[in-house]
Amino acid sequence: MKKLSTALLVAAALFSGAAAAESIGMTPKLDAVPPPAESASFKPDPNLVALGKRVFFDPRLSEPQGTSCAACHDPGRAFAPTLAGEALRIGVPAGSRPGHVAPRNAPSLLYLRYIPHRYFFQDDDASFPSPFGGFFVDGRADTLAERIRGPLFSPDEMGNPSQRALQRKVAGTDLGQALTKQFGADAVHDPERLIGALGKALEAYFQSDEMAPFTSRFDDFLRKRTPLSPAEMRGLALFRNPDKGNCASCHLMMESSSRPERSLFTDFGYDAIAVPRNPLLPANKDAKHFDVGLCQTAHKLKWPEPDQWCGYFRTSGLRNVAVRQTFMHNGVFRTLRDTVAFYATRSTDPAQWYPGTKGTPLRFNDVPAKYQGNVNVNAVPMNRRPGTTPALTEDEIDDIVAFLRTLTDARYVGLMPDAAADKARSAHAPKAAAKTAATERPATNTR
Ligand code: HEC
Ligand code: HEC
Repeated sequence: MKKLSTALLVAAALFSGAAAAESIGMTPKLDAVPPPAESASFKPDPNLVALGKRVFFDPRLSEPQGTSCAACHDPGRAFAPTLAGEALRIGVPAGSRPGHVAPRNAPSLLYLRYIPHRYFFQDDDASFPSPFGGFFVDGRADTLAERIRGPLFSPDEMGNPSQRALQRKVAGTDLGQALTKQFGADAVHDPERLIGALGKALEAYFQSDEMAPFTSRFDDFLRKRTPLSPAEMRGLALFRNPDKGNCASCHLMMESSSRPERSLFTDFGYDAIAVPRNPLLPANKDAKHFDVGLCQTAHKLKWPEPDQWCGYFRTSGLRNVAVRQTFMHNGVFRTLRDTVAFYATRSTDPAQWYPGTKGTPLRFNDVPAKYQGNVNVNAVPMNRRPGTTPALTEDEIDDIVAFLRTLTDARYVGLMPDAAADKARSAHAPKAAAKTAATERPATNTR
């Protein structure tokens, strides 16, 4: 797994020339984890919030026009994509150009304001520092402008050919006027400043309380101890139990705190859990193509031994996960049930998840051979030997799914697929056992 040597670290710190703070490559190393921001600390300017919202929903910003940010981050689906047709078949959202799909799955943008800047931190019981934070699953963006450049100029997303082309498009529109009013005329005439202005407006929108609702049943449980159903409570316990799901070791939560921002279900760290390859992604038609995640960023930022981070992706926050249509960075899973089942049997029955790899030493079919050693084979429940008993039974998987469904904000509860139907659609669920999920239905749909 991760193997940063101390010598390299010291060298990195010296090279960086940073006086006070140590750094690894171009990324600061912190002595303490930054405390989670509190809801109350976000006070974006309401005018900027309104402007940011306008930008977010403006379909004129793409090339060809018609694809706004909201096209892939649907406010009706917790700002995650609503997929249809070919995009749904493949598992990732469609871009503005015909036949183009995004290279990855799109996350929900709710709770985005809590994502910290990139940093390294070494836990007391860890033998090496690990990276945290940054935007996108590979942490490649750390600033506002970087964050919006991606979608605006990617040919597979909003497809603008250049900053100048975008600038020409905005100048002379009502949006251009609104931007001028807020930021001055330069913000619309200078393409570089335009990106900055759009970024500032979007940032304010992402910081607004509208984008961090905390209205799930789990939030009621945290704040008012409103009871969850027995199945949901069992799921919560399994989620936290280090010998069972062990999910909370990465998907961080704090049951004892009534402050929901302490339970964002991610530590913003990265891990290599080796989800199966999605053969339908256009780039994957090339058998030699692999999405290696964090190590691309590691190279760019001059982290020592960057290839140790190949296969790492940022741990997803799980709020509103039950309304997603496809799961993981490559959209490979179609049901939440399959996604949870993956953790239970990835190591005990790998052939089920990585077709065609039976009997070969290379198990993880979406990680290049030379990086297979990066994959996490130590964390419960993924640390068992093939042929042994999984850490979670089928009923326990159902309980964890029931618990994850309580993380859905009130506005989206109606969008959750029926638990029994979800299980029936699952490729990796025992067909006869679909009854169990059906009996849980009333309890998980009480809102
Ligand atoms: C064609 C679909 C598409 C459009 C349009 C789109 N995005 Fe995205 N968005 C994605 C995908 C796919 C990802 C995940 C990419 C990755 O992690 O590498 C993403 C990720 C993000 C992230 C990172 C979230 C995180 O958790 O780190 C932000 C922020 C974001 N998008 C904002 C925007 C904004 C703002 C716009 C409009 C200017 C926009 N997106 C338009 C598909 C899209
Ligand atoms: C070792 C860290 C780790 C552990 C333990 C872990 N996860 Fe994850 N989880 C991740 C990472 C990293 C991702 C993103 C992987 C990717 O996209 O390739 C993820 C993604 C997910 C997703 C998909 C989210 C989405 O939006 O597509 C779900 C659901 C999930 N985990 C649930 C669980 C459950 C349930 C458990 C316990 C059984 C668990 N995880 C244990 C690290 C972990």
